[in-house]
Amino acid sequence: MRPFVLAIDGPAGAGKSTTARGVAGRLGFLHVDSGAMYRGVALLALRRGISLADESSLVKMVAGARFTPTPDGMLLDGVSIEDSIRTAEAGESASRVALHPKLRRTLVSIQRSFAQGPGLVMEGRDIGTVVFPDADLKIFISASAEARAERRYLELRAKGANPDRDSIVEAIRERDRRDTERETSPLVRAPDAILLDTTRIGPEEQVALAARWVELARGRPDRGTLVYRFGSGFAQAFARVFLDFHVEGLERIPRKGPLIVACNHISFWDPPLVGSSITRPVAFVAKAELFDNPLFGALIRSYNAIPIHRGPQARTGLRGAEEVLSAGGAVLIFPEGTRNKSGTLMPPRAGVGRLSAATRSPVLPACITGSNQIRRSMLRQVPIRITFGSPVMPPSSGQREEVRAFAQQIMDMIGVLREDQEKRHGRDRRR
Ligand code: DC
Repeated sequence: MRPFVLAIDGPAGAGKSTTARGVAGRLGFLHVDSGAMYRGVALLALRRGISLADESSLVKMVAGARFTPTPDGMLLDGVSIEDSIRTAEAGESASRVALHPKLRRTLVSIQRSFAQGPGLVMEGRDIGTVVFPDADLKIFISASAEARAERRYLELRAKGANPDRDSIVEAIRERDRRDTERETSPLVRAPDAILLDTTRIGPEEQVALAARWVELARGRPDRGTLVYRFGSGFAQAFARVFLDFHVEGLERIPRKGPLIVACNHISFWDPPLVGSSITRPVAFVAKAELFDNPLFGALIRSYNAIPIHRGPQARTGLRGAEEVLSAGGAVLIFPEGTRNKSGTLMPPRAGVGRLSAATRSPVLPACITGSNQIRRSMLRQVPIRITFGSPVMPPSSGQREEVRAFAQQIMDMIGVLREDQEKRHGRDRRR
């Protein structure tokens, strides 16, 4: 069996190592810090008197070197380099050797060879984009430059130094700049990487979240029932043939693990159009009343619809959706709670935030336009567009205020997707 690969990327000091080490330890996966390899190359070059600018000599040197990742850190030719590479100078030199494309290619092929055993957690800058673009799960860890600087400051203080806060922030910004602006493999978030912002959460929570996503993503993938696959294929075929239909951002959908897709709602066509566009089976959250008619109820149930209850039952109303997410599946939800044909976005209900907090599932915003004018779309007068956004982490707690604010934040992201659509394609022509 192919080992499970978790790719963790992000800027310096955001908490990649803590998360990667923690997840690997919990799940018995191999942990590889790819940054240690760049640092190791710099160290070896300095020891051997090779210039950091001399790419071909660096490549030759690496060809004769042996990197061995262990739970206690990286070995180079059988000897631990951890004590020598964790200095600011080594980091600086590493970021200079990391600029060479051929050297990077050599290191990348070594990095790929570490995908063995039950699983691999690799952290770095280009793991989800270049080293393992097909990773089973990708996480992009970030935190504000201030928060990262503060951690570094406290770290140095604990070591007995008396550092200057401002210059630490400045150094972090400078390093971010170099890592993001370089031509070869710059630090960018892979489209389908879940954003894990550690500005306001602690290390235990980081590890717990990532480990849960991995555990659920490791389950057997749900291929959907036959009825679902048929219905979904039919809806897509119909849309592609008869409608002026466009889907963008499919590459941003994580392929495994729990996922809530949150979309605005303007037509009863939205569930089949959005659902069938998503490249993995999704369950739909539908109002309980829709199940009252036995025939229609049976139909939508076979098409992965799960009833949601309101009023006195509201607390347990999302249980069906929780079950799907807790088995690592995907759920499509309309945070506005009801259809709004006018096309304007309405304030969300708290449900999306509650569901995300309760199951600790990432949320992917999505935006649909034009589906409220199906007939005109058949006449090619109005395009129907679906745009998927990027996955974000759940709210940090299930508290009322927090889940409400989170739901609003998701709605705002949907608004941004819509503005973006308009900017790129112009407002739908209404003839
Ligand atoms: O994560 P770190 O600070 O140990 O990384 C040291 C340098 O190596 C950093 O400036 C960026 C570079 N690096 C890289 O270019 N690609 C990676 N996959 C990992 C690190």
